[in-house]
Amino acid sequence: MNIAPDELSIALNLLDGDDLVGMPTETVYGLAGNAESAAAVAKIYGLKGRPSFNPLIAHIAGMEMAQKQAEFSELALRLADAFWPGPLTLVLTSAKTNTICDLARADLDTQALRWPGHTDAQTLIREFGRPIAAPSANKSGRISPTTASHVRGEFGSDLNLVLDGGESVLGLESTVIAVLNETVTLLRPGSIPSTDIERVCGKLQSAIHDDHAPKSPGMLSRHYSPDAKVRLNVTEPAPDEAFLAFGSDHETATLNLSPSGDLQEAAANLYAMLRELDASFKSIAIAPIPDTGLGEAINDRLRRAAL
Ligand code: TXA
Ligand code: MG
Repeated sequence: MNIAPDELSIALNLLDGDDLVGMPTETVYGLAGNAESAAAVAKIYGLKGRPSFNPLIAHIAGMEMAQKQAEFSELALRLADAFWPGPLTLVLTSAKTNTICDLARADLDTQALRWPGHTDAQTLIREFGRPIAAPSANKSGRISPTTASHVRGEFGSDLNLVLDGGESVLGLESTVIAVLNETVTLLRPGSIPSTDIERVCGKLQSAIHDDHAPKSPGMLSRHYSPDAKVRLNVTEPAPDEAFLAFGSDHETATLNLSPSGDLQEAAANLYAMLRELDASFKSIAIAPIPDTGLGEAINDRLRRAAL
């Protein structure tokens, strides 16, 4: 998938004028704006309806761009080397040379950075030459978008351009970790299973059970939510419920996240299937998902959707 040159130049002009663009990434689509511009970042918060105490990820392409914005310890470099470009977000101490506006960081002294793997996102960032702030391109609290048409459906004419980079292949947001004072803390489970990260840096601290851990303000509330009621760990759905199944022997399934029980396939299908069921049912029952590997992030999203 490649953005057409004329679309790229329209996108660059919009970003330059503090306007926003729908940006494809391998995890979910982002609502992209110039991270250095408080005007652009204010538009992101406004359009999403996102509280401005919840900081945004700055998307970069290349280590030079990254190291201008944040301080990389040896440990952070090792993690970047192992997983970038890709679905890992690093929360690091902000660098003295940081050019990202305070509003994007919600006034914290840390900076969240991600180098996306999607080639269209990389082209956009490289050509723009500055970090791009991009939360998931959905109204705050709602289901994240994995296609360009989801994004158009979410914002309509309020968003001038959505770059179509095809379906997001991973379908779940990046894993967010803080690397501060030689300690690595899991802030949001995501597309890279914790166990893969632990192979590089040893045991992760959990932010959820530690009052002193850096907080990820985005993890506090109901999120990823359809309008329909969501019921989890269901083996016997009620007659009026949609049944979102996982694995084989589910004749009663309305949709199946992965008939073969593959967690990667389930992650890629999760948001699009929730949207599809939400459009025609008042209540969605979801089969149990194993809590291993990518299941950790899938179950995290499902618990928030069910709140
Ligand atoms: O896959 C993704 O990460 C997508 C795509 C578009 O790249 N982006 C995304 O962004 O999910 P967003 O804004 O929806 O989620 C960013 C998460 C939030 O939970 C936020 O609280 C956390 O990262 N975050 C950002 N900066 C932080 C910081 N300085 N300290 C702690 N948490 C931070
Ligand atoms: Mg989001």
